[in-house]
Amino acid sequence: MDLSKSLSRRSGNGPLHLAWKNLDYSLAPGGKKKNADDNPPKIILADVSGSLKPGQLLAVLGPSGSGKTSLLNALAGRLPITDGARLTGSVLLNGAPAGDMALRSAYIEQVS
Ligand SMILES: Nc1ncnc2c1ncn2[C@@H]1O[C@H](COP(=O)(O)OP(=O)(O)OP(=O)(O)O)[C@@H](O)[C@H]1O
Ligand SMILES: [Mg+2]
Repeated sequence: MDLSKSLSRRSGNGPLHLAWKNLDYSLAPGGKKKNADDNPPKIILADVSGSLKPGQLLAVLGPSGSGKTSLLNALAGRLPITDGARLTGSVLLNGAPAGDMALRSAYIEQVS
């Protein structure tokens, strides 16, 4: 399969408008309590929406553990990465569902 052709067919090689709508990301509870009400999923991202037009730069700021990396991973098609994790919502490129963003995007993480 010619990946570059199949990708350019999908949204062209022109400017891309990235948008994300109503992203929710939660993790299954770790414990084994019988009552599900006592042991709700851990919510990492709650109804996160945003938009990034061509040429715009976005800084994602927040305290440690607030979900910055999770948001980036959600936009980059790297989630869910663990059992019981659930990602819902949509990522759009030029208004259309982005498909597999892991094929279109890449970044490397800082190792501290
Ligand atoms: N795969 C996972 N398994 C368990 N918990 C996770 C997982 N991924 C993220 N978390 C939890 O989700 C929350 C958000 O984590 P995330 O790494 O997205 O935050 P962050 O803003 O990037 O933090 P930092 O500034 O330290 O990099 C944290 O409570 C973290 O422990
Ligand atoms: Mg992080």
